[in-house]
Amino acid sequence: MATDASHPIPHLISTIDELRATVASERQRGRRIGLVPTMGALHAGHLSLIEISNQECDVTIATIFVNPKQFSPSEDLDKYPRTIERDLELLSRLRVPFVFAPKEEQIYPTGFSTFVEPPSVALPLEGELRPHHFSGVATVVLKLFNLVQADVAYFGQKDYQQTLVIRRMVEDLGIPITIRTCPIIREQDGLAMSSRNCYLSPEERVQALSISRALREARRLVDAGERDAGKIRSTLRHVLEQAEISKIEYAQVVDRETLEELDRIEDSAIALIAVQVGKTRLIDNCLFEYEVNSS
Ligand code: PAJ
Repeated sequence: MATDASHPIPHLISTIDELRATVASERQRGRRIGLVPTMGALHAGHLSLIEISNQECDVTIATIFVNPKQFSPSEDLDKYPRTIERDLELLSRLRVPFVFAPKEEQIYPTGFSTFVEPPSVALPLEGELRPHHFSGVATVVLKLFNLVQADVAYFGQKDYQQTLVIRRMVEDLGIPITIRTCPIIREQDGLAMSSRNCYLSPEERVQALSISRALREARRLVDAGERDAGKIRSTLRHVLEQAEISKIEYAQVVDRETLEELDRIEDSAIALIAVQVGKTRLIDNCLFEYEVNSS
């Protein structure tokens, strides 16, 4: 691994005791702490969160933990990419001083049995397809919030429902942290960056482009004045079906706060897609925001 003095490798923290000591010392110095939780296999999407945290905070703490409690038994926990050396190298380039990468027993010690019951916004869409997913996410994120005591935590709009679940949890439980949602970072050809993109064969990679194409087509229609959410849904499906995507899990147009299905798009809405391309599950979304026409 490259280690030159201008890019020192971040200090790798693996225990809660060391994390608490580090955080206490940073807080004592009056530093504003930014937290970027990840499951590793870092790409430009993750790094954009770090960059925003670096701009807004004095110190950024990144966490890398492939959280078993948010995977169902049929999902890809075992083969989820783990690239810690490369991750540390990427984080060093962004001058991240601390990375918390705990072993599973630090987060889930023997006897662990307390879970967050996520808010109702966790129920549709991902919640229907992955019933325990958001409980696992909310539980680990709350634990990270408690351990790191950051001022601000950064999440990507790529996992839009996740950001709503976390914001609601923070509000409902009075957690003293600010949540920032950051834009989706894409490959040049439009595919939203994801740690799972590495699973795609070249043919599947081409099929996967239909996801962002469908969302762009939806945006084009809404920009042109289409307000019938049903028509936008049909367009999303049509583009995905043309690409012969293996499975469309959902292609929806919903209220951006409640995630309730919409008939009409008024001032704002969000289009959300989840598909399987081969065996790889991919998600993406596009937010529509418009001035309400007062006439
Ligand atoms: P992970 O999938 O590693 O993503 C970590 C963060 O990076 C999330 O906030 C996610 O929305 C953001 N992200 C991923 N791809 C992105 C992209 N293309 N553009 C912008 N941001 C992107 O999400 C998780 O991990 C986990 O659920 C976690 C919150 C860490 C809890 O275990």
